[in-house]
Amino acid sequence: EGVRVKVPASTANLGPGFDTLGMALSLYAWIEMKPSTETVFHLYGDHMEGIPRDKSNLIYKVAQSVFRKAGVVVPELEISMYSDIPLTRGLGSSASAIIGALFAANCLIGSPLSKTQLFDMATALEGHPDNVGASLFGGIITAVWDGSHAEYLRIEPPSDMEVLVAIPDFQLSTSKARNILPESVSLDDAVYNVSRTSLLTAALASGRMDLISFAMRDRLHQPYRASLIPGMTRILKEATEHGALGAALSGAGPTLLALVDRRNQDGVDLERFLLDVLGEQGISAKLLWLK
Ligand code: HSE
Repeated sequence: EGVRVKVPASTANLGPGFDTLGMALSLYAWIEMKPSTETVFHLYGDHMEGIPRDKSNLIYKVAQSVFRKAGVVVPELEISMYSDIPLTRGLGSSASAIIGALFAANCLIGSPLSKTQLFDMATALEGHPDNVGASLFGGIITAVWDGSHAEYLRIEPPSDMEVLVAIPDFQLSTSKARNILPESVSLDDAVYNVSRTSLLTAALASGRMDLISFAMRDRLHQPYRASLIPGMTRILKEATEHGALGAALSGAGPTLLALVDRRNQDGVDLERFLLDVLGEQGISAKLLWLK
């Protein structure tokens, strides 16, 4: 018999925590997997253009890597996928496909691999642990990858915190948004980010939402990526004047993310502000309120 898994989208970095912090979002993909006599794919949803329907499909390949590692042979699979997560927008669509494939394939053969092993395999595929960790463990995670093994701690997001994302109508590949980063940074900038990431993590863990705007600043990646996302610099700078606790580029972008305290939304014009700033740059965007 088959298995079906539901996997959340994720946002990485939360500003300063480059390749370190991740947060699961209430936007999902579903993957179903069954042994079959021949490999077939059923892909549903608006975000499936260009996804291969043969054995070069990522989900198929990832599933086979689980079977190989477990020493089990399941050559042919019927794979179904439905996703509400837009592709190449900075919402962890590839991480959720990888996690869904690893988890479903492992369940299909009686779960011989531990979640920690799945996390290591997923991080090796993605190259960083933030999106895959959030999709696998949920909540907010702080993660470290040493090149072969990943460790993490899960933090429960403050219960009154909500997330508003603005998803621009253009795609941006993670490799393009990583290639634009410098190879080395100054000690000043490193300290700037280490201190803010630490403060942000502790603030989230202890529900100190008042510290988020001060902590959610970054000098490691967002300033370099700003040229790829017109309007971003202004949004990051001014979102707190429009009711956000803080704002960041979601992962490698182009989606922008604002954290909001649900108890404090009187007169909040954050939606208008995000759409106007992007609109002035000729960018239309879709807004989603997520948890
Ligand atoms: N931490 C990664 C980055 C997430 O910012 O490049 C993108 O997948």
